[in-house]
Amino acid sequence: MPTTVPGVVARAKGKPVELTDIIVPDPGPGEALVTVQACGVCHTDLHYKEGGIGDDYPYLLGHEAAGVVEKTGPDVTEVQPGDFVILNWRAVCGRCRACAKGKPWYCFSTHNATQKMTLADGTPLSPALGIGAFTSKTLVAAGQCTKVDPAISPATAGLLGCGIMAGLGAALNTGQVTRGDSVAVIGAGGVGDAAILGASLAGAQTIIAVDIDDRKLSWAKEFGATHTVNSRTTDPVEAIQGLTGGFGADVVIDAVGRPETYRQAFYARDLAGTVVLVGVPTPDMRLDLPLLDVFGRGGALKSSWYGDCLPSRDFPMLVGLHLQGRLPLDKFVSETIALVGIEEAFAKMSRGEVLRSVVAL
Ligand SMILES: NC(=O)c1ccc[n+]([C@@H]2O[C@H](COP(=O)([O-])OP(=O)(O)OC[C@H]3O[C@@H](n4cnc5c(N)ncnc54)[C@H](O)[C@@H]3O)[C@@H](O)[C@H]2O)c1
Ligand SMILES: [Zn+2]
Ligand SMILES: [Zn+2]
Repeated sequence: MPTTVPGVVARAKGKPVELTDIIVPDPGPGEALVTVQACGVCHTDLHYKEGGIGDDYPYLLGHEAAGVVEKTGPDVTEVQPGDFVILNWRAVCGRCRACAKGKPWYCFSTHNATQKMTLADGTPLSPALGIGAFTSKTLVAAGQCTKVDPAISPATAGLLGCGIMAGLGAALNTGQVTRGDSVAVIGAGGVGDAAILGASLAGAQTIIAVDIDDRKLSWAKEFGATHTVNSRTTDPVEAIQGLTGGFGADVVIDAVGRPETYRQAFYARDLAGTVVLVGVPTPDMRLDLPLLDVFGRGGALKSSWYGDCLPSRDFPMLVGLHLQGRLPLDKFVSETIALVGIEEAFAKMSRGEVLRSVVAL
């Protein structure tokens, strides 16, 4: 029997989100029905609402979630009812050209639920990042459920499902930050602070946080930033060079994703250094750089999709480090809210008042 539950939906570009009834089918082959316990509000949800990602309205928003598997469909072996899981948007296929090359974190054919959740009138919903978790129950592919130690709080665990994993992985996996490195992170929101934490975990010696908001910069220090730069008042390229012996940082992570921040990242890195773009640009954005500088500065210009993570490898490990007291993931949870509070949470995010608002269900 399909279940009717409340869910938060973006019906049209730029319109406020709506709390409405949605219908969630029983799990079919390869699917799992999950009781959502917590779901973070990520900037990507706001991108969906504002039309920055696509035009497949209505969207069921929410994708940084943890919960308990309630029911599984036929043939599901990955998880079973009662398992505490983090939802992921990289259920790898094991067969595409990336998987075949042994690089499943690039999987080009990730699994999502086959059946559609719908509005009460039957209109199919597009779940954000193939998840859709601003609802008390959601339907996903079983491979989207990563079982982790239930000793971690659901609000903290859920954040590993997107932004915090993306930031940690931008430093650890994509940027390959290692001990002694100098790292600069532009944009100290949830994703940027996670990149700072990742750089710190990897043993980076100099970690420079750049933001336009002093409150964000003071929080960045709690995650391991050794220096901060307000790029509204100080040229960030000169400041980063000044803090790295005049050379620039080994790895610069752009956790904003705008042409001006990318340009700063490009010029603030040392020769042969690495730029990691983890912030997501919108379709209208363009970049103009002298091609000679691209050649002459060498190094690597990389993008970080989901922190190049492999959920089955990374989520249990990061939860384990957190439970040992070595990774303060709980510091990302600024507040817990109800489903009705999401529009206000977007406003707080835009005003820079929170790192993560987390919906508790
Ligand atoms: N690559 C991925 O897989 C992935 C995953 C999750 C989120 N994201 C993206 O990462 C980005 C950041 O997400 P978030 O949730 O941390 O957002 P956020 O709103 O919490 O943080 C953004 C931060 O950037 C700062 N900022 C804005 N403009 C700036 C500028 N010009 N210079 C310096 N700092 C500036 C803001 O003050 C804020 O602190 C978004 O684009 C989001 O869509 C990417
Ligand atoms: Zn694949
Ligand atoms: Zn996200």
